[in-house]
Amino acid sequence: MLALESVTYRYAGATRPSLRDVSVAFGDGEVVGVTGRSEAGKTTLCLVACGIAPRTVGGTLTGRVLLDGEDTAPLPMHALVGRVGMGFSRPATQLSGVAGTVYEEVAFGPMNLGLPRAEVIERTESAIAALRIEPLAARDPRRLSGGQQQLVSMAGLLALRPAHLVLDEPTAQLDPAGTRLVGAALGRLAERGASIAVTEQKTDLLAAIATRIVVVDEARVVLEGPAADVLADPALEGFGVAAPAPIRLERAAAAADLPAGAIARLREAAAK
Ligand SMILES: Nc1ncnc2c1ncn2[C@@H]1O[C@H](COP(=O)(O)OP(=O)(O)OP(=O)(O)O)[C@@H](O)[C@H]1O
Ligand SMILES: [Mg+2]
Repeated sequence: MLALESVTYRYAGATRPSLRDVSVAFGDGEVVGVTGRSEAGKTTLCLVACGIAPRTVGGTLTGRVLLDGEDTAPLPMHALVGRVGMGFSRPATQLSGVAGTVYEEVAFGPMNLGLPRAEVIERTESAIAALRIEPLAARDPRRLSGGQQQLVSMAGLLALRPAHLVLDEPTAQLDPAGTRLVGAALGRLAERGASIAVTEQKTDLLAAIATRIVVVDEARVVLEGPAADVLADPALEGFGVAAPAPIRLERAAAAADLPAGAIARLREAAAK
């Protein structure tokens, strides 16, 4: 479990904190969606959860960040990197910059863990297969589209098989098919016991993959609960987050005074 306990965090030079008294836990086997309007504090929450803030970006933090119950404050960045996988939305910055091919890029992490060669190969090939990027394996990762790079950097993270994973808008540059592949891969990783925190404004994706959802607004956690409850909460839109399409459709049908049978048929059609 990766947890923030009463965390208040302020960037260096900022007049106001970007996280205020935030307590959230990302449990083992859980995919927790973190959502909220622009500027709410989602990326900041990711930076704090994986230890980059304040270690690398500076600033001041009060409260505690706990990794499997252990206070991370005394741990240096290199100790955290091996335990918490992190993925950010600009995939180009996420690539190693040293790999000549996509295959080497994905293998880079497991190789650095010092794993036996057979295991490096197995992890690399299964991550590549999970995201269906076999056709890119021999390509130069620097010469890919943003969406392709996003899939490659995600494959690199999957190959690490991290116990904890923090992802900031991992599907920002992906089309619906790529988004579904990433969603399915995260689900499988969570089934193996990983804790996964993923920030996302696409609530249709969250409806498909998240077990729990945390809504952040103005640096605070303002809603939290089982995904289905939070996504159907009428307060959600007030925090700048659109409900998933089936819920919006149902509301529109109800507002238009359609008969109950028609609403049920619309719901079935939307689910397909
Ligand atoms: N390096 C920084 N220094 C000072 N303030 C910052 C810094 N980075 C972010 N902030 C501020 O912290 C607040 C939260 O920003 P954050 O990037 O966490 O929002 P977000 O929810 O990820 O937004 P978005 O949906 O646009 O990605 C904003 O007010 C932002 O201006
Ligand atoms: Mg952000």
